[in-house]
Amino acid sequence: MKTVLILAHPELNNSVANKRIAEQLKSKREDIEVRDIMALYPDYKIDIETEQQALIEADTVIFQYPFWWYNMPGILKQWFDYVFNFNFAFGPEGNKLKGKNFLLSFTVGGPNESYSPLGYNHFRIEDFVKPMEQTAYLAQMNFLDPIYEHGMVFIPGVYNTKEGVEAKADNVVERIIEQLERLENQNPEEIIKTFAKEWFEHFDILAEDGYFNSYISNDAKLSFVEGDFIGHDGFSKWYSEIKKIIKPNNEHRIESISISENNDKYNVELSVKLKAEKIEGGILELNVKENWEIELTSDNRVKIHEYIVKPV
Ligand SMILES: Cc1cc2nc3c(=O)[nH]c(=O)nc-3n(C[C@H](O)[C@H](O)[C@H](O)COP(=O)(O)O)c2cc1C
Repeated sequence: MKTVLILAHPELNNSVANKRIAEQLKSKREDIEVRDIMALYPDYKIDIETEQQALIEADTVIFQYPFWWYNMPGILKQWFDYVFNFNFAFGPEGNKLKGKNFLLSFTVGGPNESYSPLGYNHFRIEDFVKPMEQTAYLAQMNFLDPIYEHGMVFIPGVYNTKEGVEAKADNVVERIIEQLERLENQNPEEIIKTFAKEWFEHFDILAEDGYFNSYISNDAKLSFVEGDFIGHDGFSKWYSEIKKIIKPNNEHRIESISISENNDKYNVELSVKLKAEKIEGGILELNVKENWEIELTSDNRVKIHEYIVKPV
């Protein structure tokens, strides 16, 4: 699978976040073609044919940029205005981008809580990227969940530390690579097995509940040894109780996993052995059977609709 990254930073020499993301991504995934459009077109005169050819050859296009005035920097807007043209991206013969993946990856200066109705930025990040989402739809592309990180501005002595911003940039790189691997790994069985392994590795360290909830649908039916719960709030409620009982660095061993397809969903049956140190002392050992009903979204991400755990 070929990936092209359109890097759009008007002042890359002064950049911390996007520079780091581009550098780390290049070193970890040498197969990605990085097109630094500000360096290529300092006069804003985009070579339309060259850019369109790069897109034609790609399966996935990533746009990497700093969030500037709630939007993309001007050079990237210029690029879209000229490259996504009639009979290329839209119009009667404009199907040249059909089916390609479209991934926005950007760095945001403001904090997460400011991007909400009561915050000083009023709107959610997703609201600000709607024009891009529609651009992808018109071009018949597969719009993926944008990857972004807050608090990415570094002003010495005022906002953040360089190391802190770089660490967050590295996290962005990891998320981009994970997304690419999901897209490349098209075999549903492999995707689900890899997911199950990672899922339990996160339970081993008692990771943040945000990780788990990002894979659970908000109306999911959850049934644990401790009781029945619904969706994200339900998961968080159950999980906060579990964290009061066991310590991190426990072990969830998958003894068996079988996957069957059922209409557009998958049924996953697992046998799992849990061994954990209890906070009050002693060891907890538990064998469980798990039945999951999951869906794979268009970007091959697992969405859990039903999660049933029974002791054996
Ligand atoms: C011209 C300009 C406009 C900006 N606009 C916003 C904005 O609308 N919202 C926001 O959260 N941060 C904004 N920022 C902060 C940038 O998002 C932040 O500096 C950038 O993501 C850091 O990436 P870099 O180190 O690669 O430059 C702006 C910064 C500049 C220079």
